[in-house]
Amino acid sequence: MITRRTFLVSGAAVTGTLGAAGLLVPATSGSASAAGLDPAAIPKFTARMPLAPVLQPYLVSGTTSYYAMTMREAAKEIVPGRSTTVRTFNGSFPGPVVKARSDRRVVIRQTNLLTVPTSVHLHGAHVPEDSDGAPMDLIAPGGGVKTYTYPNTQPHANLWFHDHAHHIESENVFRGLTGTYLLTDDTEQNLGLPSGSYDVPISLRDARFDDSGQLHYEMEDIFNRNVILANGKAWPYFEVAARKYRFRVFNTANMRFFDLRLSDGSAFTQIGSDGGLLARPHRTASLALSPGERADIVIDFSKYPVGTELVLANDVNAAPGGPADLVGQVLQFRVNRTAADSSRVPSVLRTLPELPPATAGRTIDLRMDETGSPDDLAYINGKTYDMHRVDTEIAHGTTEIWTVVNSNRIAPHNFHIHLVQFRVLERNGQPVTSGPESGLKDTISLMPGETVKLQATFTGYRGTYLYHCHVFDHAAMGMMATMKIV
Ligand code: C2O
Ligand code: CU
Ligand code: CU
Repeated sequence: MITRRTFLVSGAAVTGTLGAAGLLVPATSGSASAAGLDPAAIPKFTARMPLAPVLQPYLVSGTTSYYAMTMREAAKEIVPGRSTTVRTFNGSFPGPVVKARSDRRVVIRQTNLLTVPTSVHLHGAHVPEDSDGAPMDLIAPGGGVKTYTYPNTQPHANLWFHDHAHHIESENVFRGLTGTYLLTDDTEQNLGLPSGSYDVPISLRDARFDDSGQLHYEMEDIFNRNVILANGKAWPYFEVAARKYRFRVFNTANMRFFDLRLSDGSAFTQIGSDGGLLARPHRTASLALSPGERADIVIDFSKYPVGTELVLANDVNAAPGGPADLVGQVLQFRVNRTAADSSRVPSVLRTLPELPPATAGRTIDLRMDETGSPDDLAYINGKTYDMHRVDTEIAHGTTEIWTVVNSNRIAPHNFHIHLVQFRVLERNGQPVTSGPESGLKDTISLMPGETVKLQATFTGYRGTYLYHCHVFDHAAMGMMATMKIV
């Protein structure tokens, strides 16, 4: 279980030590008792959940679509009746949706009009080193420009982009620098899944606001981020027809783990995860998503009479971090009409790539100090992140098995590798052959004491890439490392 104490104690530790060493942006206010906007006073299910705008290319050639985005501040109504200044891609919160196709290149010119440096990382993408958005590959504030090239030489997947600038990515992401990138291919298009307005991306996260309605950021603040946002609105509602919908759910929160359910306990169908569709659909009544993870689900509303209201809930026993009456609710579905439905969920969705034989093995130990001392740090294999150190050297083309362990007693972690989509072979000694983790993954959760064995093939590009805990504050406390594909 996560205890309140661990989160608060480790938060204080980071501010006190690394902050003093000048490595971190200091927390704005050390006190968790700062009054702020009372989340319980925010009305639920009164604002409609918006859909992020789809970004249009400014140029399309035979091989490539060219886009431009501007990172800038914008004022948004996240909480009804309040105006909140956020850091955005193109003025949109969350950022726009980029629609890409496998084997068609996307080039995005990013201009940074913010007052802080940024680095744009496309999470889950197989990209060359210079387009990966490395922590020190920064776009200068006040008009800096960088052009990223995404070859899209991978199958369909629900990707997302977010800031990765060293030591401020956590705050930049919290303040809004995230966006959606839907990569599709013929395999996915030909299945007959719900499409068009019945295919809806939902970015979930939490937030904390101050008295004036502005976002309040401090590290390790999960127990005070008690406002849940879906597509940039606090506890919105979403009107649906009584038919099947596909929802692509993104956990874009800095720290929060979600465990989603429908309020009536009904089952739904998980069809995909981080790296695209599962081999076969998975019927389930719950959906666990750690920060950075994605799930593709189909909910069939056809059994509900028009007029039904149904809540997408978050089980705070499974995913602790705040009171059930607040963070236990996410959004409300309102069945407001009937509609024809010719969509289907085939019993076979895709063929997953063969697993080549592995020729190398490694152990990755994730641990953060839980002593309560102000010197608490977070480590991978006993070391805090050093951008000048290569932690793991990998021969190009090699297939490796990594055994990742969460050695903590209290803190949950997760684990993300850049560049590759991997496969989960085992969780806690049990083979993973079906279910939500049986597809292509780039991020996996690790509860205290858990061990996950995963397999990845490091092909395509050479260079340095990161692997880290995607709880951004843990990464900033040191739980991040560098691999070099040579
Ligand atoms: Cu979402 Cu280093 O990644
Ligand atoms: Cu990533
Ligand atoms: Cu962690």
